[in-house]
Amino acid sequence: MTNVDVKYGLAGVMADDTAVSKVMPEINSLTYRGYKVQDLATQCRFEEVAYLIWNGELPNQAQLDAFNAAEKKERGISADVLSVMRLFNKNAHPMDTLRTAVSFLGQEDATTDDSSPEGLMAKSIRMYAKLPEIVAADFRLRNGKEPIAPTKVLAFSENFFHMCFGKVPEPEIIKCFDISMTLYAEHSFNASTFTARTIASSTSDIYSAVTGAIGSLKGPLHGGANEAVMHMLTEVGSPEVAKDWMLDALATKKKIMGFGHRVYRSGDSRVPTMTEAYKKMVDVIGTDEAKKYWDMSRILDETMVGEKGIYPNLDFPAGPAYYLMGFEIPMFTPIFVVSRITGWTAHVMEQLANNKLVRPLSHYVGPPQRPVTVLADR
Ligand code: COA
Repeated sequence: MTNVDVKYGLAGVMADDTAVSKVMPEINSLTYRGYKVQDLATQCRFEEVAYLIWNGELPNQAQLDAFNAAEKKERGISADVLSVMRLFNKNAHPMDTLRTAVSFLGQEDATTDDSSPEGLMAKSIRMYAKLPEIVAADFRLRNGKEPIAPTKVLAFSENFFHMCFGKVPEPEIIKCFDISMTLYAEHSFNASTFTARTIASSTSDIYSAVTGAIGSLKGPLHGGANEAVMHMLTEVGSPEVAKDWMLDALATKKKIMGFGHRVYRSGDSRVPTMTEAYKKMVDVIGTDEAKKYWDMSRILDETMVGEKGIYPNLDFPAGPAYYLMGFEIPMFTPIFVVSRITGWTAHVMEQLANNKLVRPLSHYVGPPQRPVTVLADR
């Protein structure tokens, strides 16, 4: 019908330059600012990785202390945000409430349109500091509990657990969460990041870019997959039936959540690190339930890889890991946002430093140009 080469889903299109991260499927690697994500996840705290993503280099101790102090200073959401959150529909998805709350943060910032490098960095740290509290407060409010205020005494990940549950769990659980924060932080031009860059390219404000990115991440083909994985594990129910469940799902051509990736074709570079952290956490928790989810995960993974050669993506180990940490399933994608805010905002800064309005062409397939014919019986 046509010889126009349309790149559906922009697959294979190089849309811009970036120095933030590099996905290298051919050697199964992902780097942030040149550092392997596996090394960052195991050797650095998420705070150091956030600094790296925004500033291009890992911090020395003085830089890290100043950065953490800036984040802690921004902890605490306004009474207005909290009172708006109390009005939220308790049955709405937490991604919808988070999207609304971030939009609200934008309108309460008197300098929302300040897109100078300093302004963008200040707003990025503001969202990085406040998003965990919004996610935690929303979780508590929808369960009929009062929000717990952040404490400046605790580090980033510990403070998030404190605001959700009023206590900090064992170090292995914190480590697993912190690793997931690093692994989820950045992944080049995925749908939500490209959404953020596209919004920024019109020189709109950074809160609008993040609000749009949250909407994009919500989709089950993108960030929503970590929730879908847990729904799948709940449906499977036990390790004994896991293999047959998978064989049946494949026979009936079901899309298996947590498997496959647009870029990685022979395995997601983030999965081994996350799986190892998930396993260590399962061993520390030590309950039959924890072991059950671990065994199910292993069997589903082996069966999928064996039958189809399609490998798990990061959402596959992250979903059950978050569940065993005590988070409700609809919180999983908001938790992803708590991390990805770093990557999105780094991309907004990069986009605006060398901006070109994003405006692709479309291949028109509708009727040809024609005269208006007024219908007699209009
Ligand atoms: N379950 C079953 N089959 C899958 C699959 C999955 N999760 N992922 C890919 N496939 C199959 C496709 O059906 C297709 O088979 P076909 O050639 O017989 O039609 C083949 O593998 C190629 O897949 P394709 O749809 O071209 O891959 P894509 O690059 O367009 O899609 C995803 C990538 C991520 C959208 C896709 O793998 C998916 O939907 N995965 C589940 C959702 C998920 O986990 N998303 C998180 C991504 S980080």
